[in-house]
Amino acid sequence: MTEPVARRAAACPSWQALAAAARSCTVCPELVASRSTVVVGDAPANSRAVLVGEAPGAEEDRTGRPFVGRSGRLLDDLLAEAGLARADVAVLNVVKCRPPGNRTPTRAEAAACGGWLDRQLELLAPEVVCTLGLSAMQRFLGRRSTLAAARGRLHSVDGRDVLATYHPSAALRFGPAGVPRAALREDLRTLAALLGRP
Ligand code: URA
Repeated sequence: MTEPVARRAAACPSWQALAAAARSCTVCPELVASRSTVVVGDAPANSRAVLVGEAPGAEEDRTGRPFVGRSGRLLDDLLAEAGLARADVAVLNVVKCRPPGNRTPTRAEAAACGGWLDRQLELLAPEVVCTLGLSAMQRFLGRRSTLAAARGRLHSVDGRDVLATYHPSAALRFGPAGVPRAALREDLRTLAALLGRP
């Protein structure tokens, strides 16, 4: 993680202060050149879990909100099936700016943005963090972890409960009968159960 971001983020006393600071971040030149906006994340009052994705896509870059495109619509449907609504969960990303052409964020970009995410988690203090996809899982569980091995169960990471699952875009790519959709559906039910939802 780059020191400037970690220091700036640590100095933010509130979500609003952090959002304002992150929106003016210029640490990653390629992302600054291609983004329309910084997608800080959604943090509804009283949310008890945080979902962490990879990085904003085109719709998110246009609207400034996470998971509002096709992946987001599937995520909403599967959350609803599990008895959860968007208002029950905060939704963040490892990287807050859309990478050009929707490429995977580089390690340097993920590391640079890490200070914002760490401070967001401190401020929100969720009961559980649910990672969506490989980039988010590896951010918490390390680069040797695989989704197939890590998904669906709780990991303790620096005193935090972390549940790993597939990214909704994988669930879309492999279709309704694919493994990622079934796993994501099941894992969001596990998340709901952890939050005491029937
Ligand atoms: N994919 C992500 O990982 N995050 C978003 O916000 C949207 C799509």
